[in-house]
Amino acid sequence: MDSKGLNFSCVKCHTSTEHEIEGRFYSMPATTTHELAMPKDNPSRIACESCHSMRPHKTDPKLNDHTARIACETCHVPIFALKKPTLVTWDWSTAGKFKEGHKYIVKKDELGMVSYHTKKGDLGWAKNVTPEYDWFNGVITHVEVTDTIDDSRPVRMTVIHGDQNDPQSRITPFKIFRGKQIYDAGNKTLVVPKLFGPKGSGAYWNDFDWQESVAAGQKAAGQQFSGELGFVETEYLRPVAHMIPPKEKSLSCEDCHSRNGRLKNLTGFYIPGRDYSAILDRFGWLSCLALLVLVGLHGGLRIMTSKRRN
Ligand code: HEC
Ligand code: HEC
Ligand code: HEC
Ligand code: HEC
Repeated sequence: MDSKGLNFSCVKCHTSTEHEIEGRFYSMPATTTHELAMPKDNPSRIACESCHSMRPHKTDPKLNDHTARIACETCHVPIFALKKPTLVTWDWSTAGKFKEGHKYIVKKDELGMVSYHTKKGDLGWAKNVTPEYDWFNGVITHVEVTDTIDDSRPVRMTVIHGDQNDPQSRITPFKIFRGKQIYDAGNKTLVVPKLFGPKGSGAYWNDFDWQESVAAGQKAAGQQFSGELGFVETEYLRPVAHMIPPKEKSLSCEDCHSRNGRLKNLTGFYIPGRDYSAILDRFGWLSCLALLVLVGLHGGLRIMTSKRRN
């Protein structure tokens, strides 16, 4: 952070005690309050507020009124993957195609990143990505290989906890990674395919046979396999906490307080400037029109009556 100035190293924020590195979303409980996370709060959690407090803005105090409901990163990370591309999609269903002579196909995109590989399928990369937003109280759980999934729509691999009615939740920016992966269509579960290993062992990256790969992988993991395979769409959400640009690049009022603003998909609560009632608006404009007519009438009458007096 700020390579020409303070030049923070990772451990400036991610301090550690006995090799436990602080600042993880997973396996650690979230802070129970939005107070300073360091030093008196849950020490396993780091937060912007730990150094900056909940009221860091001096010039515009209205911004401080937002920090209870909007995570610092929402305004301070307007886009991510500024320098290096980030992987945003991965379609395993197209893996296993070969050139003549059983040679791997490898393609690159305009960013210079691998966009197709025989071993992996299609890969999608992006730069300057706009995050997607949701309410988040700091707790993330995962879909596990034993869970039954609903394969009729994209499976959320990460379950982001929190909602607008939960006072611990704040609107938080996320990277959404979208995948298409092999699953057990009979049992409706995710699977553990075997990827690495010698030829004939079922390893996908040698034998290129999903049936064998999943049978071997599920067996090794001690899981059931119905024998019926399919590809299911998946989504993996990850909170965005890095890549904070200089303060001038933060979101401005109109980015959210407008009809097509960044929070247009988060519904069910009121944001001034974004939400409006058509009936109320029509009533308002009708009142204006009525007022205009009345003012005109009144003025006209006064002119007429004043003329009569002369
Ligand atoms: C300015 C402070 C700051 C600096 C510097 C920083 N981070 Fe972070 N990092 C955070 C915050 C805040 C979070 C979100 C943690 C949370 O909410 O528990 C985070 C989260 C993470 C996570 C996510 C952990 C998870 O479970 O998903 C990783 C990984 C990470 N940081 C690695 C790094 C690395 C590597 C560096 C150095 C290149 C670095 N960070 C520098 C503040 C910082
Ligand atoms: C609603 C959007 C928004 C939220 C939420 C927000 N900020 Fe800001 N922040 C801004 C904008 C815009 C600026 C630049 C203008 C200014 O300082 O008045 C800024 C400036 C800053 C500055 C520089 C202050 C200065 O006076 O130079 C710091 C530090 C900062 N924010 C930290 C935070 C932290 C920490 C949080 C979470 C507790 C946070 N911000 C939440 C929008 C926001
Ligand atoms: C380890 C302490 C520490 C943590 C954690 C930390 N910051 Fe800072 N930050 C600083 C210091 C020190 C400065 C420079 C002095 C200042 O402007 O307050 C700074 C500066 C800033 C600025 C002003 C940059 C500018 O253009 O002048 C912003 C914005 C900011 N931080 C946002 C954040 C956000 C968002 C987080 C959480 C992801 C965060 N900080 C986490 C210590 C920290
Ligand atoms: C990241 C999106 C975002 C940005 C940027 C943002 N707001 Fe808001 N603002 C919200 C949301 C969401 C609410 C509703 C919060 C709630 O229900 O508590 C809100 C509420 C408000 C309110 C009504 C509640 C109150 O605190 O009085 C005002 C006024 C307001 N914002 C003004 C501003 C101004 C001025 C700016 C720019 C300096 C700004 N906002 C920037 C998202 C944003």
